[in-house]
Amino acid sequence: MGDLIKVEGGKHLTGSVRVEGAKNSALKLMAATIIASGRSTIQNVPDIADVHVMAEVLEVLGAKIDKGDHELTIDTSTLDSFTTPYELVHKMRASISMLGPLLTRFGRACIALPGGCQIGSRKLDLHFSSLEALGVEFETEHGYINATTPDGLTGAFVTLEFPSVGATENLMMASISADGHTTIDNAAREPEIVDLANMLCEMGAHIEGQGSPTIEIEGVKEFHPCTHRTVGDRIEAGTFLVAGALGGGPVDVIGAQPAHLALAITKLQRMGCEVSSKGDVITVSRTGDLLPADIQTLPHPGFPTDLQAQFMVACTIANGNSIITENVFENRYAAAWELVRMGADIRIEMQHALVRGVPRLSGAPVESPDLRGGAALVLAGLVAEGETTVSNVHHIDRGYENYVEKLRSLGASVTRVPEE
Ligand code: EPZ
Repeated sequence: MGDLIKVEGGKHLTGSVRVEGAKNSALKLMAATIIASGRSTIQNVPDIADVHVMAEVLEVLGAKIDKGDHELTIDTSTLDSFTTPYELVHKMRASISMLGPLLTRFGRACIALPGGCQIGSRKLDLHFSSLEALGVEFETEHGYINATTPDGLTGAFVTLEFPSVGATENLMMASISADGHTTIDNAAREPEIVDLANMLCEMGAHIEGQGSPTIEIEGVKEFHPCTHRTVGDRIEAGTFLVAGALGGGPVDVIGAQPAHLALAITKLQRMGCEVSSKGDVITVSRTGDLLPADIQTLPHPGFPTDLQAQFMVACTIANGNSIITENVFENRYAAAWELVRMGADIRIEMQHALVRGVPRLSGAPVESPDLRGGAALVLAGLVAEGETTVSNVHHIDRGYENYVEKLRSLGASVTRVPEE
C-alpha cells in the first residue's frame, strides 16, 4: 500500500516556492557521465525517485556515486558492464538514455526493453533508426536490446521523422565520438537538450546548434569528466504557476528560466492571470474569473505536453469552454476521468478534450494515473469543495521533490498520510 495525499479545497495560496533541477535533464546528465572515465559532479539534482533509480542503474554498471545535497559525484572509472538490468529499467523509462553513452564508451550496449507506459506506447523506433545511420546494429532478444558497432561509429546526416527528445539525446551522445561529422536534422529543441549538449561540450564534445532544429556534431575521441549544474525544472515551475493561478496568489516561483516557459506564461495571461518575471522569479496572481483556453501541445517551443493535465485543471473551472489537443502522446488524458469524478465536465474525442467550465469541483477520492496527472489531481483538490484524497502518489514522487511541503508553504491545506 502507498501513501495518500489529502487536500482540503478553498484555501488562498500566496508566497514563494523554489523549484529543483529538471528531472528530464538530470537523468540524462547522469547517464552522460558514462562517456568520460573519472569523477563528474552534477549539481542542482532533484531528490526524486527516478534519480535514485538512475543512480542504482549506474552503480549496477560499476560506477561509484557520492551523494551530496542535491549534488551527485559519479565516478565511472570503475565502470565494468554495459548491460542495464530489467528489474531496474522497467521502473524508469529514461534508462534508455544509457544507450548513447554506452555506445560511445564501450562501442556496445545491452539495454532492457522498457515496458509500456501509462501515457502511450513510447516507441523507440526513432532511437534505433537514427543510431543505425551511424553504423549501430540492433538485435532484440529475451526482452533486451543488444546494440553493437561492428565497424565503429561513423558520422551521418540524420533527419528525425519527429523531434523526439530521447532520440535526439541518444543520437547526440553517440555521435560525439563517431568518425566524422553528424548533422541531426529536425532535432528536439527542449531546454533539457541544450543543457545536455552544454555538459557534453564541457566534457570535450564539439556540438553546435543545440536548441535549434539542426544540431551539428564533429566527432572526437577524448572526453574528460566535468562539473555541471542542472537547468531549473520548467515543468515543476509550470505546475506551481498553475497552483498560484488556482489559489489566487501572488505566488513567486523561483529557479526556472521564464524563457523556458514562454507559452505556458502566455496561456496563463490569456486565462486572466497576471504573470510577470524578473531573473529566475516568475510571479503569478489572479483576481477575476479564470477564462477558457485553447491549448495545443507540441514539441518545444510549443506548449509542453508535460503541463497539459495541470492546465486542464484550470480549464475545468474557467468561465467558458476550453479545447485541449494532445499532439505529442497518444494516450495522455487519464487524469481527465478522475477530474470528471470531481464534477468536471470533460468530453474526450480522439486527441481532443472539450472542457466546459463548471462553477466548482467537489472533493473526491481519486487515483494518480501517471506522474503529471497525479500532480494535476492534487491541484484540482486545491479548488474542490471539501476533501480530495489522491492515491498512487508514487507516480508523483518520480518527478516532484517535497510536492506536499511546497504546496503547504503556499498556504494549501494538504497532508500526506499512509494508506490504511
Ligand atoms: C521526454 O520523453 C520526457 N521524459 C517526457 O516527460 C516528455 O513528455 C517528452 O520528452 C516530450 O517532451 C524524459 O525526458 C525522461 P519523445 P521522451 O521521444 O524522450 C514518440 C514527464 O512527465 N516517439 O519526444 O520519451 C513517442 O511515442 C515525461 O516528465 C516515437 O514514436 O519523448 C511520443 O508520442 C513524460 N518513436 C513522442 O514521440 C521514438 O523512437 C514524444 O516522445 C521516440 C518517440
